[in-house]
Amino acid sequence: MAENISIPQQLPKEEKYKALLPQLKALLHGETDEVANLANTAAALWETFHFFWVGFYLIKNDELVLGPFQGPAACTRIAFGRGVCGAAWKERKTLIVPDVAQFPGHISCNSRSQSEIVVPLFKNGELHGVLDIDSDRPGAFDEIDARYLEKMAEFIII
Ligand code: SME
Repeated sequence: MAENISIPQQLPKEEKYKALLPQLKALLHGETDEVANLANTAAALWETFHFFWVGFYLIKNDELVLGPFQGPAACTRIAFGRGVCGAAWKERKTLIVPDVAQFPGHISCNSRSQSEIVVPLFKNGELHGVLDIDSDRPGAFDEIDARYLEKMAEFIII
């Protein structure tokens, strides 16, 4: 199994995602442990895009609890419907927030976060957790991120 991710940094965003998806699939191939797979996914996304924060929150006892991530220390628990993560859980859909200051109830784990995307993760049709990515630039995420991150969420074994 290849344990390294190699994506040319000069590629445009969509090309980076196109190159990353098969490499991540190969990296996760044959592994069924949730923490291992989420940890390597967070690392691969961080290595490729150098996001300010990228990681997972998993539903445990009716709240989202911090899972594997890359970036500064973050809030550990988020209630249903709270913040962008809790809203994505409630609405069961990807949320793109170009300016976190404009999102009612946004939970600021770090004052440097300016925009955010949250993608739900499903397991056997049930919502299981979310992938959360923060940028220290406004408007960093768009439909390209949503499309490829949703594809990624489908193949990560959790
Ligand atoms: N901003 C998120 C909280 C998690 S951190 O960004 C890592 C939210 O509003 O749900």
